[in-house]
Order: sequence, then C-alpha cells, then structure tokens
Amino acid sequence: MKVIFRLMMISFTLGMLACGEEKKSDNYVEPEINDSHSFSNPREISISHVHLNLKVDFDSTLLEGSATLSLQHNKPADTLWLDTRGLEINYVTIDSVNEKINFFLGNDVIFKGKPLGIPVKSTSKKVHVHYKTTSESVALQWLSPSQTAGKDFPFLFTQSEANLARSWVPCQDNPGVRFTYSADITVPKSMMALMSAENPQKKNDSGVYHFEMKEKIPAYLMALAVGNLEFLATGKRTGVYSEPAMVHKAVVEFSEMDDMVKAAEALYGPYRWGRFDVIVLPPSFPFGGMENPKLTFLTPTLVVGDKSLTAVVAHELAHSWSGNLVTNATWNDFWLNEGFTVYIERRIIERLRGKDFADMQAVLGMQDLKETLEDLKKEPDDTRLKLSLENRDPDDGMTDVAYEKGYLFLRLIEETVGREKFDRFLTAYFDEHAFKSITTESFIHYLNVNLLNDENGFKDKVNIDEWVYKAGIPANCPKIASEKFKTIENKVALFLNGSSASELNLQHVSTNEWLHFLDALPTKLSIAQMVDLDSAYQFTESGNAEILCKWLRKSIASDYAKANEPLEYFLIHTGRRKFVKPLYSELAKTPEGLAKAKIIYSKAKPNYHALVINTLEQILEKQSVKM
Ligand code: BES
Ligand code: ZN
Repeated sequence: MKVIFRLMMISFTLGMLACGEEKKSDNYVEPEINDSHSFSNPREISISHVHLNLKVDFDSTLLEGSATLSLQHNKPADTLWLDTRGLEINYVTIDSVNEKINFFLGNDVIFKGKPLGIPVKSTSKKVHVHYKTTSESVALQWLSPSQTAGKDFPFLFTQSEANLARSWVPCQDNPGVRFTYSADITVPKSMMALMSAENPQKKNDSGVYHFEMKEKIPAYLMALAVGNLEFLATGKRTGVYSEPAMVHKAVVEFSEMDDMVKAAEALYGPYRWGRFDVIVLPPSFPFGGMENPKLTFLTPTLVVGDKSLTAVVAHELAHSWSGNLVTNATWNDFWLNEGFTVYIERRIIERLRGKDFADMQAVLGMQDLKETLEDLKKEPDDTRLKLSLENRDPDDGMTDVAYEKGYLFLRLIEETVGREKFDRFLTAYFDEHAFKSITTESFIHYLNVNLLNDENGFKDKVNIDEWVYKAGIPANCPKIASEKFKTIENKVALFLNGSSASELNLQHVSTNEWLHFLDALPTKLSIAQMVDLDSAYQFTESGNAEILCKWLRKSIASDYAKANEPLEYFLIHTGRRKFVKPLYSELAKTPEGLAKAKIIYSKAKPNYHALVINTLEQILEKQSVKM
C-alpha cells in the first residue's frame, strides 16, 4: 500500500512539475541567470510582447510615442522593473485604464541607465509607456543628408547590442529575456523604415510602416533603420536594401547570399527566420555587420567590387543559429554568441570558397588574437572565455578573445571528436535550445553529457576548464597552417633581405594574402621600403578598407608622409570601429601623432556612433594623461 501511495505521490508531483513547466515554457527565465547589466525582474514578471508606436522626427532628431509591454506574471510582485537610458518618460498607463499612474525613475547608473519601476497588479496585462528619446539615446545615430551616399535625405539607424536597446525602447534589456514585437513607425513621406522584422520592399505613400516580429528575440536584436532606401533581390529568400546610389553595387557584391543560406542549412538545419535580407548603411555604421534578425545591418566598406570581404555576411548569417536562435544568457557568456558564430562563418565560407580560404581567415584571426592578448597583458582575466563584466561596460568584453579563442576552442572539439560527430552535436544543440538563452555553465553541461563524456578520453583531451576559465591560449590549441601564407612569408623574407617590391611578383594575390603580407612585415619600415611597396602595389590608393587600414597603420608607425591625407580622409569618412580604433591608437603613441589624432578626431566625431566615440575618447584621454 505504502509503496503504491508513494509512487502515486511521485507521479503526481512529476505531473505538477510538467504542468508548471508547460505553463511557463514560453517565457520562462532560467532561475540561475543573473544579468548584472539589467535592472529588470523577469523572474517575477517577464515581457512577452512589445508593441511600438513611434514617430521618427528628423528635425528634432528624436523618436516619440509609446511602447506597450505585455506582461507575463511568473511570481507574485508589485513592481515591473524596466531598463531605460536617456529616455524621457512622459506618462504611463495600465491596460485600458486612461488614468496615468505614478511610476518611479531611479538615478542614473553608469553603463546601465535608469531603472523604471511601474506598480502593477497580478491581473495587469499591459503597460503603456509614453516616452521620447533624447540626445543621450546612445543606440541612435542620426545622420544629416551630407553623411549619406545620396546627400538628399537624412538617415537614422539603431545599434542595440550590447545593452543599448534601453536607450530607444523601455524594456527588459537582458539577453536572457525574449519577446515578440510589432511596431507602427511613422517617417517623413518619401522615406522608408525597416526593422529586424518582416519588412516592406517598397516605399508607401502614407509614411507609416507596420512591422511584425513573430519569433521571440532578446532586446538587443531590436533594430530600426530609416532612409531613402531601395530593395533589390539577390535570390528567393535574400535581398539588399540600400540607398539608390549604393544598391546596385551591393547587390552584385552580395549575390551569393542565397547560397550562403543553403550552405548554413546543410550544416545546421533549417533557417528559421523567413527571409535573410541585408541593409548596407552609410559609412558611419560602427561595425562590419550586426545580426539583426531578418535584416542584417552592414557597413558599406564591404562593397569592394570583388566579393573579397563577404565573409562578414556569412558571419551575420551564422548568428541566425548561434546568437539569435540560441543566445548568450548574459554578456559574460558573449563567447557563446561570437565564438560559435566565427566557427560557423568559417564552415560556411569553406563550403563556398574552399578549405584554403577558410584556413587563411583562421590564421588572420589568430594573428588578431595574438595582438589582443598582448594588449590585454595587464588584464589577463579578460582573456578568459567566461567573462566577469559586473560593474563594467559590457562593451569591454567584446574583444577578439570571444571571437577567436572561442573559435579555436570549438575547432579543437571538432578535431578531437571528428567533424561528423561535432556537426550532429551542434545541430542538436541548436534544435534543443532554439529560441532560448543559455549560460556557459549550461552549455558545458550539455557538451559533456552529449559529446565528451564517453570512453574515448575526449574530456581530458579538450580540457574545457582551462579554455573557459583560465587566461590565455592553452597548449592544446589547434595548429592551423596555410600553404599560400607560407609563400607570402617567403616573399616577406626576400623583401626584408633586399629584393625590390616588384620582384616579389605579388600583383595577383588575393585579399587574404595581402593582409597576411602586411601582418608579416615589421610594424615599422624605412621610408625607402614604404615608397618601394607603394609604387609597386598602390597600397595608399587601395579601395579595400581592410588592406588600406593595415597599410595606414604601418604608414603612421613609419612616418610615411604620402599617406597623411588619405589617412585623414579615411578616418573622417569611415566610422567602423575595427578600422578607426587601431589607427587612432597608433597615432596616439607619439606626442605629435596624438596632437594630430585630436585634430582629425574633432573633424570626424560627427560621423562616429556613440559606441565608437566612447572607445576613441578612452584612447585619446588615456594617452594624454600618460604624457
Ligand atoms: N554582433 C556583432 C557586433 C557587435 C558585437 C555589436 C558586440 C555590439 C557589441 C557582429 O556579429 C560582429 O561580430 N561583427 C563583426 C564581424 C566580423 C567578426 C566578421 C564586425 O563588425 O567586425
Ligand atoms: Zn558576430
């Protein structure tokens, strides 16, 4: 009797648990997730849907309107806590009651903004926050017509990652919380609005655009772009938006997007976001790309004319699995987004361009990583995969460590267990965690249980603990070699031994090889060597921003005067952080260079996004204190 009763109790309890889980499944937030960069309280109340009703005002450069947040009550609580930063809250109402309620806006906390506390009842379903953005709304970059390709219309774009969504939408800006969204966006007539959602392909006459994002996403994937935009298809599921002056070139550059989607699907299962479109933004865009779902944002510096830099598109596409489908639960777990994405990017690129090409990219990545490790010598903790960003700007953790050390770790696992097994593991991992956020610890558990805990000694061979929780690069790091790069290294040796640049016969080498060539040369060359290289291969006039950036850096270090003007032009006309940061850092190494950097910066600043301004001001200020 007793046994039967006990069994009944157990099955009753299990049934309860299953029920409980099912009820919460949609928006359930893992209890152990603690995002120190958010004021929100999703364990008590989580947001399940956001509806935006915003007017885009280019005259006063602000967004004004409302955000309606649908609530899911997980535990009893009397306050909904939201994140805001640089927002002016006009008033708040609840459900269909028109009465304005008393809300609480806390003090500004560095890197976090102000908590917005809204008193709610357990029966409250919707909260309407009426607000406008301000000049402190750091996600937004407003461009005047002169800062665009067409010069006729202004432009607006957002950059929400890492924790800047709160500066244009009051929300639970925590990557562990997911919600669907919809929006009605009013823009000046003759302009077009696009979001990380289902998008229009043509302008309409009303200037009001409606958007639906039916898949659940974290706040950092909310995005908006407004400009004089046109659409051209590159395939059935893919296409390019850009200003009319750019869209034709862009559509040729990115013509392989449908093939990229197919390659990614062949590796990791169906693409779950409907369309994969991209928008090519004005040059102020601070990144190479941003994986806003359904609409990747791209820098125009990728449009070179020879498809040599389109791996960035493969990267942003790869985020459709790693990052957008399975998301880092906190910014300390950032490598789960970026390390996985670099790994997948190179697998996609290998299918499209071959193993040689992918390995060349991996070696270039390793070179960047070595430089980053050198820069982080005094902050070894930042070279661990699992980060500790409490009380810090999450942006501090967004280094090559997450990308390239993360990549090497996954490549090591692939090499240890074999590609087929690893591919099957990753496909299952994405499937089982689809539309969920995950911590490093949950991933490690999943990895051990599903891949490494078997009789082959895989676990010892990989040594997860050292890779994830220790600084630097472990001794079992995969060795990546490239035959083509060996040839380049030989050419560099010849050049350094006195051969002339033209004797090296490099005119037909690829972009990857040029990049390796420039990396392999000493940081500083003699003026005669610079002149020789430049007259043989016209680096100063390069239309490829990756090559030009490395060359300009060498020009600064070598005091090569011919590059002065192109350097200033490049810094004023490109806002991509990857390029401007090393150039300003190089300039800031000498007092004369620093003075020059400050003059250029004062001219260029209006073209830079707030994230880039933040990085550059640290460089320029740190150096002036040192002097
Ligand atoms: N998600 C990142 C961009 C990002 C990272 C924005 C951190 C804000 C905070 C994007 O996917 C990315 O990694 N872009 C790279 C592409 C490159 C690694 C191929 C870039 O912009 O250079
Ligand atoms: Zn990325």
